[in-house]
Amino acid sequence: MESPLDPEELWREASRVFVGGAQGRLRREFHGIEPLVVVKAQGSRVWDAYGRELLDFHLAFGAIALGHNDRDVAAAVVKQLDRMVLHGAGVSDVEVEYAKLLLSRLPGYSRVLFTNSGSEAVMIALRLARAYTSRDVIVKFDGNYHGWHDYSMFNVKTPAAVGKRPETLGIPRGTSSTVEVLPYNDAYNLEKFMSRMGGEVAAIILEPVAHSMGVVPADRDFVAAAREACDEHGCLLIFDEILTFVRDSLIGMRNYFGVDAEITLVGKSIANGLPVAAVLGIEEVMSLLEDKVVSSGTFSGHPLSMAGGMAALSKAVKLELDKVLWEKASKAASMVASALEDSGVDAIVAHFGGAFSIYFGLSERPKSLSEALRADGSFYRRFAAKLRRKGILVSPNPLKRFHLSYSHSGEDLELLSTAVEEAAKEAKAEG
Ligand SMILES: Cc1ncc(COP(=O)(O)O)c(C=O)c1O
Repeated sequence: MESPLDPEELWREASRVFVGGAQGRLRREFHGIEPLVVVKAQGSRVWDAYGRELLDFHLAFGAIALGHNDRDVAAAVVKQLDRMVLHGAGVSDVEVEYAKLLLSRLPGYSRVLFTNSGSEAVMIALRLARAYTSRDVIVKFDGNYHGWHDYSMFNVKTPAAVGKRPETLGIPRGTSSTVEVLPYNDAYNLEKFMSRMGGEVAAIILEPVAHSMGVVPADRDFVAAAREACDEHGCLLIFDEILTFVRDSLIGMRNYFGVDAEITLVGKSIANGLPVAAVLGIEEVMSLLEDKVVSSGTFSGHPLSMAGGMAALSKAVKLELDKVLWEKASKAASMVASALEDSGVDAIVAHFGGAFSIYFGLSERPKSLSEALRADGSFYRRFAAKLRRKGILVSPNPLKRFHLSYSHSGEDLELLSTAVEEAAKEAKAEG
């Protein structure tokens, strides 16, 4: 699959029109290995402008769960295009069906609000929590990512022990004062903080599996402590399942933990690559949207995303995709672990749901950001660059994950494990 355009020219133009030649820091990191201009994506593969085929384990930060450009999803979008692009008035038929399907997966919630991105879903969830409690403070945990906006862009890569740190310039001090960052998986510190400050807290937000530091599931007692603190102090618990829903569970992580949250956020693979996320919540909270809390968005509930999303989610349910991905990722993780052992490189492969991460130089799975950061990130970067040159696309960022999709075959896993063994040996030899 070659692009009609000259690859060198494309890259030059990309660097001219986009800062760093891509949308945002994380996508830019891929150019650090060598410029990457993608011209096609299908199944488990993407193709670059030179016509090179890459076996993809990045999968758009995990948003692709069925495989790239799934034919049923694409057909639903094309069919919808025949009917409309955007109505912007009232509601569309497919929007209703899609919301009903989401609600059927997460019983206990009565309403849905669609947004175009996970970041927007988090923003409105925090606004709802503040409105419901008439309080300002949001508690988040280090190593947890809840989108790029001002309200939670703190300590994603910086341990809480170092102090509260914005991960970007430009966040107003006033906004910063409404966020409290605590260490993940640390029930003791959470209880201590809440007993002192609980009366000011509007919500505790957490990733049930902290995929923003690789693969770090929450401890059950930590999630239970968050629930208890919310009950005791009258604040809301928000599960950010934007990465975990579908990929790790099609019924929500509340079942895994036996803990309910007033609000759950979903996104990414609910539409297998189309831009849609959603807020699901209990009636008492969501009813504020009637007249007290404003939500909007010209493109919210976009008919093309709704049609593609409905096709993607109903297919995922039919295939029991969470179980399929769990099995594939577990198999891939153990193949990768033995390939690394054969290469003589020390590493821990941590698997959960439809993803796994490699932590070089660790002998145990990390349970916190501080532990995850002890892994050898520069070895990982060299390793990821070598994988790329062997035709395997993974994130060059050591805190990201390897994702599996329905389209990945047994042969794809063999290709991965062979490449992993070679890449680890080569990275080791370079010292
Ligand atoms: C857990 C989590 N929350 C929120 C977001 C933000 O979603 P989006 O990138 O769609 O704005 C992400 C994206 O990576 C995420 O992983």
